[in-house]
Amino acid sequence: MIKEFKKKRTVNLKQFAKDISDQLKNKTDNPSLESKIILSHFLEIDIKDLYLFDNIEIDIDKINSVYEAIELRLKDKPLEYIIGYKPFRFLKLKVNEDVLIPRNETEEIIDIIKRFFPRAKTFLDIGTGSGAIALSIAREIENSFCVATDISERALKIAKENAKENNLENKVVFELADLFPLEKEKFDVIVSNPPYIDINNTRLSVISEEIYFEPKIALFAENKGLYFYEKILFKAKDYLFLDGGLIFEVGFNQAKEVVEIGESNNFSCFSLKDLNGIDRFVVCRRKMIK
Ligand SMILES: C[S@@+](CC[C@H](N)C(=O)[O-])C[C@H]1O[C@@H](n2cnc3c(N)ncnc32)[C@H](O)[C@@H]1O
Repeated sequence: MIKEFKKKRTVNLKQFAKDISDQLKNKTDNPSLESKIILSHFLEIDIKDLYLFDNIEIDIDKINSVYEAIELRLKDKPLEYIIGYKPFRFLKLKVNEDVLIPRNETEEIIDIIKRFFPRAKTFLDIGTGSGAIALSIAREIENSFCVATDISERALKIAKENAKENNLENKVVFELADLFPLEKEKFDVIVSNPPYIDINNTRLSVISEEIYFEPKIALFAENKGLYFYEKILFKAKDYLFLDGGLIFEVGFNQAKEVVEIGESNNFSCFSLKDLNGIDRFVVCRRKMIK
């Protein structure tokens, strides 16, 4: 009896959430939301039920996990790595330090596919990471089939777990490859959010302290960050049907140059803004030979 009593503590969750939020206020734009996510995750209480009761009994172990999470967060570890997942469109994706945390703007790639390639069924996702793009295609585009490559074995392990967890194993084939799959098959659309931060960028902390936790292989590229766009656009026609196309996510200020790289490889390209008004995507179609 006494043993059990010692394992729990009475906690006022509203106050607990406020204390966490105060501690995180210099670390994040949304300390209040992050404090709720941490509490909900480690105390195993649905976020909407957090404030249902003023005082509740909580296992000491769970409270300690919350304190550990705050400590990590104060050392800039991204929230998603601490809780182990990231919501992405309709999916809940497992993430760890072997994969890039899928960004909110990347979600827009799926809408771009639906808008500009509404009949596309076969897709190649180059540099799939957690599988975010490939698995969202599989989840949202009826009768689609996707090949997803990555050069990181560890990333592919997570992507495969995400496919299994979301019941999408039959619609995506993951392949360890340097950009393109070994077999030269044709696709309707190639999508890629490749590494695009200039490898010579010495002012990374300007971007965010948090990216130091993410795999370098997912972030950096040679040639002012344009290396992967050049490589992919140079070979893309061998992997595309005649009416096929490509969709890229690009870094800040890279859209114009990626459009030019596409045009010089016989594609017609244009850029699109993300929801924040930044030129974030480049769409290319094969030029018709007259
Ligand atoms: C910016 S991350 C994008 C991950 C995921 N597609 C997303 O949008 O969240 C780039 C990915 O490209 C992979 N990558 C880097 N070099 C590669 C290469 N040569 N061939 C295939 N994948 C590569 C990295 O391992 C990483 O998973």
